[in-house]
Amino acid sequence: MDRIRIVGRRPLQGTIRISGAKNATLPLMIASMLTDQTLILDNVPRLADVNLLQRILGNHGVDIMVSGKRPGETALDGQTLHISAANIVDTTAPYELVSKMRASFWVIAPLVARMGEARVSMPGGCAIGTRPVDLLILALERLGAQIEIDGGYVVARAPNGLKGGEISFPKVTVSGTHTALMAAALADGETLIENAAREPEIADVAECLNKMGARIVGAGTERIVVTGVPKLNGARHRVLPDRIETGTYAMAVAMTSGDVVLEGARPELLQAALDVLGEAGVGIAKTNEGIRVTKNGTGIAPVEITTQPFPGFPTDLQAQLMALMTRANGTSHITETIFENRFMHVQELVRLGAHIHLDGEKATIEGVEKLKGAPVMATDLRASVSLVIAALAAEGVTMVNRVYHLDRGFERLEDKLSGCGAAIERISG
Ligand code: EPZ
Repeated sequence: MDRIRIVGRRPLQGTIRISGAKNATLPLMIASMLTDQTLILDNVPRLADVNLLQRILGNHGVDIMVSGKRPGETALDGQTLHISAANIVDTTAPYELVSKMRASFWVIAPLVARMGEARVSMPGGCAIGTRPVDLLILALERLGAQIEIDGGYVVARAPNGLKGGEISFPKVTVSGTHTALMAAALADGETLIENAAREPEIADVAECLNKMGARIVGAGTERIVVTGVPKLNGARHRVLPDRIETGTYAMAVAMTSGDVVLEGARPELLQAALDVLGEAGVGIAKTNEGIRVTKNGTGIAPVEITTQPFPGFPTDLQAQLMALMTRANGTSHITETIFENRFMHVQELVRLGAHIHLDGEKATIEGVEKLKGAPVMATDLRASVSLVIAALAAEGVTMVNRVYHLDRGFERLEDKLSGCGAAIERISG
């Protein structure tokens, strides 16, 4: 299994190109199943999750062609996928595939909406929490689908098609909102979605669906109205930049006292996180290319945050912020409200010399003078990158194990960091 070796205490200087967003790419690829025409997606990141989803969609009969290199393109430019779900030959998503990536459960929406039936394995548990799918099922039931649980599979049927209806989510859910949007797009009549998730990735998917001929109003707000249409068409859409990748590199620069331009980043997609970095004494400036992040050698100020749905502080940046706060001049408090088990990185940061005390969903971080390199273990996608951020500031060598977690959501992480002066290398096998 690959590992990553880091020698810390090198300031980051230069430019990092921000990739397309994983959490927009996955639902956009799934949305292609709503039409028999071709959906072209630009700025698609090269990630393990994207490759796996290609296999999962292929299992339903979806053809995906990746465009070859174009003049002037570099390896850091996103890829272009031509996705055609002209013939859906199988409406079953098997356990072997769905269990590898939770988001693949979302295929249930286009399958039942377009084909009138779907048999999709329940995703099972996850390192960061129980993560049930009851609200996705609720959304489909509100649109008239008959739902049955059979042998670990959710079987959804709508032989006469889905019908517009009212979906009021008891709690904000990104996956529930994606599912409701995709299903309602082909439903007969109008659908009202209340207490919808407002994440930028939701608005990006709605924008693409509207290019395909859907009629969606209000995406990005908590109240969305979808007027169903009988059929959707092909379209071309550029995936928005990854706000979590942006925030991650901003924290890496802050951790190493550097000066980096995050090319292609859009500050409005992660304003809450940038405000917190400002509070911590990090320089954040909007530029024509994106965002410039600077941190001189002076200390990092402690902060207090609670993770919230968008536009609040994103849970997917919680671990990275904790890594930064391990070196703050004082005590920070982080409360995780979205996932019940998202502190797996704490004991690994403690191995690097951090002082962190956990009390249920609250973490108290006492800043320390310095961290010291050690072997550490990645447990999930965001936890693993928090270990990389801490290692970049630690004295000596850190070896991060199980980096396959990183490959799921960070494109060419070592190249992007070493391109800015980090002493980081991947050790294969
Ligand atoms: C999406 O997960 C993201 N994944 C997550 O990013 C992100 O952390 C999360 O949204 C919150 O922002 C993708 O986009 C692929 P939710 P999702 O439905 O949609 C509970 C990463 O690191 N819930 O908004 O699964 C759930 O358990 C990943 O890239 C139910 O109870 O999140 C959680 O506590 C990790 N029933 C809360 O709601 C349901 O049916 C929010 O979940 C659905 C969710």
